Amino acid sequence: MKAAVFSRYGPPEVLEVKDVHKPVPKEDEVLVRVHATTVCAGDWRIRKADPFLGRIITGLWRPRITIPGMEFAGTVESVGKAVTHFSAGDEVFGSPGFKFGANAEYVCVRENGTLAKKPVNMSFEEAAAVLFGGVSALYFLRKARIQSGQKILIYGASGSVGVFAVQLAKHFGAHVTAVCSTPNLDLVKSLGAEQALDYTREDFSKAAQVYDIVFDTVGKSGWARSLKVLKRGGYYVRVGGSGRLLSMLGDIVRGMWVTFTGAAKSIGGIAGESAGDLEFLKRLIEADKLRTVIDRRYTLDEIAEAHRYVEAGHKKGHVVIVLEQTKC
Ligand SMILES: NC(=O)c1ccc[n+]([C@@H]2O[C@H](COP(=O)([O-])OP(=O)(O)OC[C@H]3O[C@@H](n4cnc5c(N)ncnc54)[C@H](OP(=O)(O)O)[C@@H]3O)[C@@H](O)[C@H]2O)c1
Repeated sequence: MKAAVFSRYGPPEVLEVKDVHKPVPKEDEVLVRVHATTVCAGDWRIRKADPFLGRIITGLWRPRITIPGMEFAGTVESVGKAVTHFSAGDEVFGSPGFKFGANAEYVCVRENGTLAKKPVNMSFEEAAAVLFGGVSALYFLRKARIQSGQKILIYGASGSVGVFAVQLAKHFGAHVTAVCSTPNLDLVKSLGAEQALDYTREDFSKAAQVYDIVFDTVGKSGWARSLKVLKRGGYYVRVGGSGRLLSMLGDIVRGMWVTFTGAAKSIGGIAGESAGDLEFLKRLIEADKLRTVIDRRYTLDEIAEAHRYVEAGHKKGHVVIVLEQTKC
């Protein structure tokens, strides 16, 4: 099968499309023929080994994971002997999680992993782009114990985590203020934000507003500005960050301090994925309460170009790779 492959860490050019062995499903696994997959922040970070210390997990000198891709939608090709919930021909969407490997014609995932039947009202391209942003946004909004009637500021509202955070916060009944750049103001309003602030023209901390939650998807809201607009004891959520060791350590220490003093509850770390979350998102999608935003589409052969665009950090929603075999 064809797959995007990198055998050393580095810039987008380390990616090549190669013929590799088609995976064989284990007893509890499902083999999916991938129709659409994505390039997300997790993909360029693993290709580049960013943060550097991630190499402890992904391989010190050479990457142990060589095929990127954290999201896919496709058709079940075959299943392992112990699989009971899926069969050949099912249209599914899911994620191999931190095993990666979805930027390929075929991928194997555990039946009990992050895998569900594709929402009936979504194309493969749309469904492929739900996992990374949708599950991460849901995980961190739940960590912040979001409740109806609360005020939330979502900083970095137009990326893959942001577009789902805005829609999910609305679903949970919160009043949403979204922060993004000028070209994305209409987009975030169309997703349900009551207010949209342009970070290139105004400083959100100078508007006379107080929030129950400050939800930063990109790690650029800043501690001082965020605490200034956060009500005492509110949640300061940092989904993304620079990946630099000193800044990560600084965030941990400051987080512990503000939590200790009662100024704010600091939330960070890595989002968890569960099949239950995927079913939850699927129900919202089928009720027309959640949609994906596709910025650009590329073919597998254009994988390096797609990485270059995503790594620049200004995509709107998602970047989808459409597999040649089934352009949908
Ligand atoms: N902790 C976890 O488990 C977890 C899970 C998922 C993602 N992440 C991390 O979260 C981060 C965001 O992921 P993503 O997939 O949403 O990224 P993304 O899709 O690349 O989006 C980045 C967004 O950030 C905005 N942005 C860039 N610079 C900004 C600035 N100075 N101020 C405000 N907004 C700015 C951009 O909007 P404009 O074009 O309008 O500037 C863009 O829409 C990544 O670092 C990723 O690694 C962490």
